[in-house]
Amino acid sequence: MSGTSAGHGVALAASPPASTPGPNAPLLAVVGLSKSFGGLRAVHDVSFQLAPGEMLALIGPNGAGKSTCFNIVNGQLAPDAGSVRLDGTELIGLAPNAIWRLGVGRTFQIAETFGSLTVIENVQLALLSHAARVLRFWRSARTQFRDDALALLASVGMAAQAERAMSVLAYGDVKRVELAMALANRPRLLLMDEPTAGMAPRERTELMELTQALARERRIGVLFTEHSMDVVFAHADRLIVLARGELIAGGTPAAVRDDPRVRQVYFGMGSTFAAMPGGAAHA
Ligand SMILES: Nc1ncnc2c1ncn2[C@@H]1O[C@H](COP(=O)(O)OP(=O)(O)OP(=O)(O)O)[C@@H](O)[C@H]1O
Ligand SMILES: [Mg+2]
Repeated sequence: MSGTSAGHGVALAASPPASTPGPNAPLLAVVGLSKSFGGLRAVHDVSFQLAPGEMLALIGPNGAGKSTCFNIVNGQLAPDAGSVRLDGTELIGLAPNAIWRLGVGRTFQIAETFGSLTVIENVQLALLSHAARVLRFWRSARTQFRDDALALLASVGMAAQAERAMSVLAYGDVKRVELAMALANRPRLLLMDEPTAGMAPRERTELMELTQALARERRIGVLFTEHSMDVVFAHADRLIVLARGELIAGGTPAAVRDDPRVRQVYFGMGSTFAAMPGGAAHA
C-alpha cells in the first residue's frame, strides 16, 4: 500500500473550483460515491464538483476507478453508495437514457459512428435522436435538420466534409464528428473517457482545444479522463486524482503536479509523470 489513505477525501468537495467564474451552484455534484466488484473497492467515497464551462480531468493509474466513476455518472452502473446531482437533480436510480435526456452527453473511447452514412447524416441522426424521433423515419429525415447539422459540423470544423462518407475520414476527423453528435443533444455535461486515445499528438491538441472552446462558449461542463499528461496539463482547468478507488488529490494543474502524494502514486508505474509539462523544468 502506498500510503494513499492519508489523502482520503482530502476535502475536495469543500474546496470550490478555483478557476470558475460566477456565482453558479455546481453543475455536477458527486458525493460519497462507492462501488465494489466482489471484494474489490473500485471506487471508494469519491466526492467532487464540476462547474459549467469547466474542464475537469480525472486522472490516475490504470485500474484506479476512472471509468467506473464515469459509468456511474452516466447511469450504466449503480453505485453501492453516494449521490450524483446534475443541477440539483439526483441521477442515481435513473436509466442511462433518462440521464442522457437531462443533458449528460458522452463520447466513447472507440468512435461510435455509422461508417456507411455521410458525415452530415451522422449528425442529423444524432439530432433526430435528440428530437426523440424513431429510426424508421430515417428516409424522410434525410432532409431534416440539415441546417442544424451543418451548423454543428461548422462548430467542429467539419462542414467542408459534410457529404463525405464517414468510412473515409481520418481518425481525428471522426472524433470531431463524434463531438458534433454529442453536441446535438445540447449537453450540459459532457463525459469523455480517454477522448484522444489512438490519436496523433497534433490531433490530440486540436481536439482538446476545440472541446475547451466549445465548453467555454456553451457553458458545458466537461469531465474527461486522459493518460497523456501533455493533454491534461494543457487543457484541464482543474484535476482530480484517483488511486485505488480513492481521490488522493485535486486542484490546479500546477498544484497537482507538485503534490507529493500524486508523484508517489505515479512513481514506478512506468508512467511519464516526470515528463509532465513544467515538471522540474519550469516549476
Ligand atoms: N464490471 C466489472 N467487474 C469487475 N471488476 C471491474 C469491473 N469494472 C471495473 N472493474 C475493476 O475495477 C477497478 C477499476 O476499474 P476502472 O475501469 O474504473 O479503472 P480505470 O481507472 O478506468 O482504468 P484505465 O485507466 O485502465 O481505463 C479495476 O480493478 C477493474 O479491474
Ligand atoms: Mg478506464
